[in-house]
Amino acid sequence: MDPLVLVIFGASGDLAKRKLIPAIYQLYKGNYLPDCFAVLGVSRTDYSDEAFRELIFSESDHLDHKGVSKEDQERFKQSLYYLPVDTSKQSDYAKVKERLAELDKTCLTQGNYLFYLSTPPFLYSIIPAHLAAYGLSNEHKGWKRLVVEKPFGYDSASAAKLNSELQQHFEEDQIYRIDHYLGKETVQNLLVTRFANGIFEPLWNRNYISHIEITSAEKLGVGRRGGYYDKSGALRDMLQNHLLQIVAHVAMEPPISADARSIRNEKLKLFQSIRPIKEEEVPDFVIRGQYTPSVIRGKEVLGYRDAEGVLEESKTETYVAMKFFIDNWRWAGVPFFVRTGKRLPTKVTEVVINFKSPPHSPFAGEAGMVHKNNQLIMRIQPNEGLAMRFGMKVPGAGFKVKDVQMDFHYSELTDAHIPEAYERLLLDGIKGDATLYARGDSVEAAWAFVDPIIKAWENDPSIKLYGYPAGTWGPNVADEMMEENFTWRNPCKNLTGFDDFCEL
Ligand code: BG6
Repeated sequence: MDPLVLVIFGASGDLAKRKLIPAIYQLYKGNYLPDCFAVLGVSRTDYSDEAFRELIFSESDHLDHKGVSKEDQERFKQSLYYLPVDTSKQSDYAKVKERLAELDKTCLTQGNYLFYLSTPPFLYSIIPAHLAAYGLSNEHKGWKRLVVEKPFGYDSASAAKLNSELQQHFEEDQIYRIDHYLGKETVQNLLVTRFANGIFEPLWNRNYISHIEITSAEKLGVGRRGGYYDKSGALRDMLQNHLLQIVAHVAMEPPISADARSIRNEKLKLFQSIRPIKEEEVPDFVIRGQYTPSVIRGKEVLGYRDAEGVLEESKTETYVAMKFFIDNWRWAGVPFFVRTGKRLPTKVTEVVINFKSPPHSPFAGEAGMVHKNNQLIMRIQPNEGLAMRFGMKVPGAGFKVKDVQMDFHYSELTDAHIPEAYERLLLDGIKGDATLYARGDSVEAAWAFVDPIIKAWENDPSIKLYGYPAGTWGPNVADEMMEENFTWRNPCKNLTGFDDFCEL
């Protein structure tokens, strides 16, 4: 693997401390990093190398030192460096350039730099321009890559603007747009389940599937992120990016191979085939909600409007449920139902493939027949795994059919370490593999789909924002948007266990 300097802009921030450096440490522990590497933290706060090392290494409880010798811990610590810089000021980049040249000498990193933008979004176009002004985007000596955190734009116009600003200074194949859901093992496994097995793909279409549900529930509220969230909302924060990426993995056509170009071409095609929801159709296809105060297991819980940084009369949605169709050969007429929300009963993300009923049921008249249609449940998190529900004969007289479940849990793979999303994504960035990063055209296409919804909510005050008590499954009207005899599967924390045995 090539030697490199990983340059983290916004290094004194929360993401660097909580996610990025711990992920690099995991890679280091697993021997995935090259021998010659350095991490250069860059931000405004005035730390020395030593102070930064203490902050990240000794004072943080986010690093897992299990199995790492004192010497190896020290070696990692010494590979952390820091440079105080006003990132919005072009002349400060002379210092960045100089420090990188120094590190190239001391750490033998050969001019390979991975720039990670973990800063407030307004800097996403400024930092690359300043890097380019100091020749830090050209690849004359060593490669240069740019990782951009979310949010990538605010709507399709701002995403397109950001794309064109970045592309003025970096080539598209140097730009890596993070969507941390793509780093999740189980999101990648959606592709493997479909395309590495002979039994699923033949059924994976409008002939056999009645509808598809995707739920991404969170138990927590907005916490202290109210200032950011109030300007964003669930549609922008979760659905436009993470959930549409899951939709793409569930619904795209088989790629020719597993390389970045083939997979990302198929995803783009998929986004382009989602039937747009017109502004005037929004009330029929999209439900928005906001959590209100409530008591959960005897404990009072604040409503969204009481959270720090949130406007008193805020109309920002903390819940969104949506129905849409994909207009292509495979999916014509199959409804997709997608929902996400904060302060729901549990934290869980899963995909449910609901298969059609058999064309004729000889057992339908049997007393005690409780069988539902077959479901394949693909659990993204937690309790990662797959479960298949099907009917089985109840032993004894007659032909009573009972619902049973066959399942696989990742936890059964005792020797496998499931990498954190950031571990996998950073490693891919270091290796130059962009497969699990979002391509510019796809991000714009995903925004184009949600744009009319954002506009409708902004322009039409008569569109309802439903309150739901914190700790419940969101507004009831979200059930009504489903076809007759469909209901959302309200999942438990554990994959296995039918609705009636849920621990909630
Ligand atoms: C982030 C959102 O992108 O994803 C957060 O900004 C959300 O609001 C988080 O909580 C969920 O990620 P995960 O990996 O915990 O499901």
